[in-house]
Amino acid sequence: MNTMTPLKSLDEWEEDLLERYPDPTSIATSKDTEAYRDYDHTVKDSVREFYRLNHQHQTYDFVLAKKKEFLSFDKKKMPVWDAFQFLNQLVDDSDPDTDLDQFQHLLQTSEAIRKDGHPDWMVLAGLLHDMGKVLCLFGEPQWAVVGDTFPVGCAYSDKIVFPEFFALNPDATDPRYNTRFGVYSQGVGLDQVHLSWGHDEYIYQMVKDQLPEPALYMLRYHSFYAQHREGAYDHLMNDHDRDMFRWVNLFNPYDLYSKNPVPPDWTALRPYYEDLVAKYLPTHLSF
Ligand SMILES: [Fe+2]
Ligand SMILES: [Fe+2]
Repeated sequence: MNTMTPLKSLDEWEEDLLERYPDPTSIATSKDTEAYRDYDHTVKDSVREFYRLNHQHQTYDFVLAKKKEFLSFDKKKMPVWDAFQFLNQLVDDSDPDTDLDQFQHLLQTSEAIRKDGHPDWMVLAGLLHDMGKVLCLFGEPQWAVVGDTFPVGCAYSDKIVFPEFFALNPDATDPRYNTRFGVYSQGVGLDQVHLSWGHDEYIYQMVKDQLPEPALYMLRYHSFYAQHREGAYDHLMNDHDRDMFRWVNLFNPYDLYSKNPVPPDWTALRPYYEDLVAKYLPTHLSF
């Protein structure tokens, strides 16, 4: 196991999420502690190590620095469809016979949303939601690209997976950041809250002027399991967030449970998606 890139592939994190949340109704409030202990025992060493690094290094200052570095979008500009090919350069050590590439996961997510008759901008959110994983191609470590997201600048909730690893994080003993509200205040609204840095915030910022607000919530918070599954940060949300999180909750099962070994028929689907992308997005995306 490589100590800086413990996961064989980014998908290992998502496969682990499926162990933790095996079906759409298994939210923590109804999950007994026994089941959680079970998860704790079966989780792979690589995933455990990944979370150790993530929890140790995602500090308030780290997040602000990454936002400064990446949210100027001056790294690369490319046509939208080239961007999907670029994302697919994310190859890993996992089994090529059983694992589908990143684009297939995006397409399976968007197709599952489309089959259920949801609005086309939600289909597009499905298609785009993991585009931010290109951060790995810019040399970012796994723990700064994927993994559950959580607020920084205030106390880390023990409802975040592997909370014990936050003992390694310097913010956990910093009095500016280790209280319930930290640098925030009651009901401040998530837009004012910095979440751990990763592919969610990056894709949200990339397309925030293009998609309707519910789609933007889906993109921005799809890995915020500590809230959308565990409800651990209600005290930082305002009523508008709570209203919008209905969409985040609606989106999550399509992300987690749409994986299928059979790849979608891209040739048949292509005209629909070309129209969809042209309807909402500019010709080029900036990274
Ligand atoms: Fe994701
Ligand atoms: Fe995903």
